[in-house]
Amino acid sequence: MKGRKFTEKERQILADIIIHRRTEFGRNFTSQEIPDTVIETLLSAALHAPSVGFSQPWEFVIIRDSLIKAKVKASFMRENQKAKEIFKNRPFYNQILLEGITTAPVNIAVFYKPSPHPVVGQTSMDKFGPYSVCLAIQNLWLMARAENIGLGWVSILDEEEVKTILNAPRENELIAYLCIGYVTEFTERPLLETLNWEKRKLKETVIYCDNYDHQRELIG
Ligand SMILES: Cc1cc2nc3c(=O)[nH]c(=O)nc-3n(C[C@H](O)[C@H](O)[C@H](O)COP(=O)(O)O)c2cc1C
Repeated sequence: MKGRKFTEKERQILADIIIHRRTEFGRNFTSQEIPDTVIETLLSAALHAPSVGFSQPWEFVIIRDSLIKAKVKASFMRENQKAKEIFKNRPFYNQILLEGITTAPVNIAVFYKPSPHPVVGQTSMDKFGPYSVCLAIQNLWLMARAENIGLGWVSILDEEEVKTILNAPRENELIAYLCIGYVTEFTERPLLETLNWEKRKLKETVIYCDNYDHQRELIG
């Protein structure tokens, strides 16, 4: 067999990184700066993600400016106010810190830039463009964990507000707003699981054989 082969030890390391990847929140970030070389490593991981038609439809804005962060945080506060109304019957919502915008030393806004030309593989379903950007984000997230850097994804934002703050091109879509930094400790389990907000789904409940008729065969 030609090509790079991986050892059992390397597989174990990859599995460990995947399992120990976590969402980190504001209170956990330290102010320790992330060296540019490390940011480059994270971005390089992102840029090696697969993409529909090799379109690489991603753009990244690295944010360190505290004024810009403060404006994005204000957008979060407004949007989170609306969310609090939606979850008013779940008192836990008020206790969850769902962002680390101003505490994380680096924020990265990740955009989908639609191609002006038809893209191989994207001619029937447009969504594969944004999906490709999500894969880049996951690569970046896993590499951040391998660098022992915490990351939180903030989605409680007004997209148009964030685009205006960042002077983003009109056609770009905001896919993710990431808060990145060294942490005082890595969270062991998903916070929403710890709070009994959600449970990890059992694999038997989400995996089917051949078609949707055959779930019961798996769970007996
Ligand atoms: C698309 C996406 C959007 C998310 N948005 C937020 C968010 O706005 N605030 C937040 O605290 N976590 C956000 N998260 C993190 C999830 O809550 C988290 O992934 C989930 O609870 C599982 O925890 P884990 O990442 O630690 O495994 C987001 C995650 C994804 C994938």
